[in-house]
Amino acid sequence: MTESRPPVRVRVVGAGAMGTGIAQLLATSGMEVRLADADPTALDRGLDRIGAQLAREVAGGRLDPATAAEVSARVTRLGSPTAPEPCDVVIEAVVEDLEVKRSLFRELESVLAPNTVLATNTSSLSVTAIAAVLDRPERALGLHFFNPVPRMRLVEIIPGVRTATSVVDFATALVARTGHVAVRATDTPGFLVNHAGRGYVTEALQLLEEGIAGPAEIDAIARDVLRMRMGPFELLDLTGLDVSVPVLESIWTGFYAEPRLRPSTLLRGRLHGGLLGRKTGEGFYRYRDGAKLPPEPVPVATVPVDRPFWTDDPSLAALLDGAGTRVERTGQPGERAVVLIAPEGVSVVAEARRRGLPVRRTCGVESIGDSTTRLVLAIHPGLDPEVGRVARSALAGTGREVSVVRDGPAGVAQRLLASIVNTAAGIAQARLATPDDINTAVRLALGYPTGPLAWGDRVGADRILTVLDGLFTQTGDPRYRPSRWIVERVALGLALADPGTAPEDIVAAGGE
Ligand SMILES: NC(=O)c1ccc[n+]([C@@H]2O[C@H](COP(=O)([O-])OP(=O)(O)OC[C@H]3O[C@@H](n4cnc5c(N)ncnc54)[C@H](O)[C@@H]3O)[C@@H](O)[C@H]2O)c1
Repeated sequence: MTESRPPVRVRVVGAGAMGTGIAQLLATSGMEVRLADADPTALDRGLDRIGAQLAREVAGGRLDPATAAEVSARVTRLGSPTAPEPCDVVIEAVVEDLEVKRSLFRELESVLAPNTVLATNTSSLSVTAIAAVLDRPERALGLHFFNPVPRMRLVEIIPGVRTATSVVDFATALVARTGHVAVRATDTPGFLVNHAGRGYVTEALQLLEEGIAGPAEIDAIARDVLRMRMGPFELLDLTGLDVSVPVLESIWTGFYAEPRLRPSTLLRGRLHGGLLGRKTGEGFYRYRDGAKLPPEPVPVATVPVDRPFWTDDPSLAALLDGAGTRVERTGQPGERAVVLIAPEGVSVVAEARRRGLPVRRTCGVESIGDSTTRLVLAIHPGLDPEVGRVARSALAGTGREVSVVRDGPAGVAQRLLASIVNTAAGIAQARLATPDDINTAVRLALGYPTGPLAWGDRVGADRILTVLDGLFTQTGDPRYRPSRWIVERVALGLALADPGTAPEDIVAAGGE
């Protein structure tokens, strides 16, 4: 129980989706919560929403009725958001508008004790800019919860440039008391999670822009090969372009046009055209009554596998063998063989030419990720179409789904993963968050199968670097320049998740 801990009196201002979630979480952890809203009917709705949510928890067997009643009783209505009633901390979750948040903070400062902590749940405004209007900006910080608050276990703690250490410590202890996980982020655009999440979506858009594959194919590869819970285009449709385009653009401009965070020219037109996603019934997919409509069926040409195959990739050879396809074991492919290669960070065409393989009979197969349910076949403009059809049929004969995509400077899964890892590495390199916090935050808030730096380590930092180097060399696009975090660690044989030795380790007293 919580009796031994100091009581924390919390005020939550803004009884919308976030404010009510935050109030419910804190009350569930034993804190007394005063909930306020500028609009009394919104406050009524907010309290009702908490009641309904707790009832669902009871119905689902996750909470007993007596505890639910106690939690509900701990959230009480406060008549005015700026009432002079004392409290230890105010968490604001009002509308996302700098001037509204600033004037609320200024009014709160004028009525509350100087040591009352003022926290903002802003998702995109600068914490420092909000706090700048205060006489004591050191009392303010960002406390960024995710929606739905009770289930999303991550909270970003974001000090502004003037926030006092004691205020950060207080907020960290507050989050710990809820059982949620706190990570420390810097007051930069997107903080930690929304910044780290750019790698996935922007690279998917880049692939689409280049015509490498369509949204459904890229999503299928992301889900089946990378084991992402949701494809990037499904994610964009779920969020809605009216929300995600401003976020993409503000983070990119906030980092002064950093190419790794670059949004796509495809987005504005779709936004203006009303293809927002689920909420308008059409985005990258079509929806009816909120459910995604299945794509139009495309007849697939399955042809007899009447040619031998040649590959020097042992797992691919074993897979084809297992499906009854004849695989040549010679040093070079025979006259009629379909050639399959698995290049990394280089196009199929360039790799085939470099190795003296017959380009017209050579296709690529994605080399990274999980190939147990889906294989990705990359084809180029000079491929004999008959060879491509036989290759597709042979791969389908292994019992996997087959995605046919265009050849490019690297495979689809390679590019998505390299972009995810490189973006995270950029965050680590700029010391915007620790490697541990980056891994934890992305896993918990974005639901990736593993944290991005840990993922890079699992696949091999050297392979990620090969893909990035290849992309950068072939495209000349600074978007793909590998972060120094990766280059240095590969050279040193360190893990990407390893913070390594820093100047402060040398200078600080108390070392071993
Ligand atoms: N919705 C999300 O997924 C999400 C996630 C993280 C952070 N946020 C941030 O949380 C904040 C709230 O978002 P939301 O989705 O809960 O919004 P919401 O629209 O559901 O609720 C906002 C509430 O604030 C009230 N309000 C507006 N101005 C006020 C004022 N001056 N004083 C008191 N109350 C006022 C409104 O009446 C409304 O009830 C925003 O800053 C948003 O960016 C949202």
